[in-house]
Amino acid sequence: MSLLFAPFKLREVTFRNRIVVSPMCQYSSVEGMATDWHLVHLGSRAVGGAGLVITEAAAVSPEGRISAADLGIWNEAQAERLRPITDFIKAQGAVAGIQLAHAGRKAATEAPWRGGQPLGPERGWLTLAPSAIAFAPGYECPREMTEADLDQVSVQFAEAAARACRAGFEVVEIHMAHGYLLHQFLSPLANHRRDGWGGDLEHRLRFPLRVARAVRAAFPSHLPVFVRISATDWVEGGWDLPQSIRLARALEAEGCDLIVASSGGAVPDARIPAGPGFQTPFASAMRQEAGIKTGALGLITDPAQAEQILATGLADMVVMARELLRDPYWPLRAARALGADVQWPVQYQRAKLG
Ligand SMILES: Cc1cc2nc3c(=O)[nH]c(=O)nc-3n(C[C@H](O)[C@H](O)[C@H](O)COP(=O)(O)O)c2cc1C
Repeated sequence: MSLLFAPFKLREVTFRNRIVVSPMCQYSSVEGMATDWHLVHLGSRAVGGAGLVITEAAAVSPEGRISAADLGIWNEAQAERLRPITDFIKAQGAVAGIQLAHAGRKAATEAPWRGGQPLGPERGWLTLAPSAIAFAPGYECPREMTEADLDQVSVQFAEAAARACRAGFEVVEIHMAHGYLLHQFLSPLANHRRDGWGGDLEHRLRFPLRVARAVRAAFPSHLPVFVRISATDWVEGGWDLPQSIRLARALEAEGCDLIVASSGGAVPDARIPAGPGFQTPFASAMRQEAGIKTGALGLITDPAQAEQILATGLADMVVMARELLRDPYWPLRAARALGADVQWPVQYQRAKLG
């Protein structure tokens, strides 16, 4: 019996299998609103058989967008536009999730296919961060967040979570990874504050945990909250795995249900030793040491590899990005490779029977 295709339950939500479509920015929104592209892109991956389909990073405020074409969930019109998408995902037997995000000092850039560079003072907007330190040369210096900003951003995350529920999402994932705002608070490379929100580990954890608490309180208790973290900055003196384990324990205590273990993004010059399954040991360590469910992520492309991650107890779910861009039907093919009998969309049944 394949573990990859064994149903998995968190709170009151049952996933038909352990395959998660990782959030992937599409830079195809208009004023934060989803377009036909999102319905087809996310819908195809639900048709393709994934258990959970998570949207790209959805900004909780306009200034929290990476680019002007990011998805947003800071108003009701955006939530309403997402409703047909969650309905469609559900109708295919998948669970719909949304990643809630604020880019902090990495906001205000061009889409990657336009070069991905900072927009600059004329076309961009004022960015917020724990400390007034630019991400990299060419980026504007962010404004150091005041107490009022901290209050506002945690309310924005909570309101976005409530809106996500109204839009039909059954999972929210808080984005604490890849050098975006909440990761900026965690990492000593970006957080130079000397008040209660920076300094030692306990103080650097405070704001991300406050946001987690606010999101958990705003999202119904029968639905799971995921958190994506960067388990290491890959830089000496930066954020690392032991600190991640402390964070994972604290997130578990706040009622978060699953941590997706990513890495990097805090600074532009980290040397990342990427290779097949390279971040899986982080998922495994947090699962073991913090007693929280985890998702393995990073260069997972092969059904046997995915199955082995679960069979050896390294993680509870397998999160995939680029391979699912190459092939939205990967789950259906993987089921065949692993000898699991899964339901195909009725419209496609003749392809299954072959
Ligand atoms: C086109 C693209 C967009 C991405 N956008 C996001 C995003 O919105 N949020 C996020 O947390 N990660 C994002 N990522 C990172 C992926 O979710 C994933 O962590 C990464 O690609 C590694 O997984 P993979 O080896 O299976 O591709 C993106 C990756 C790609 C390729």
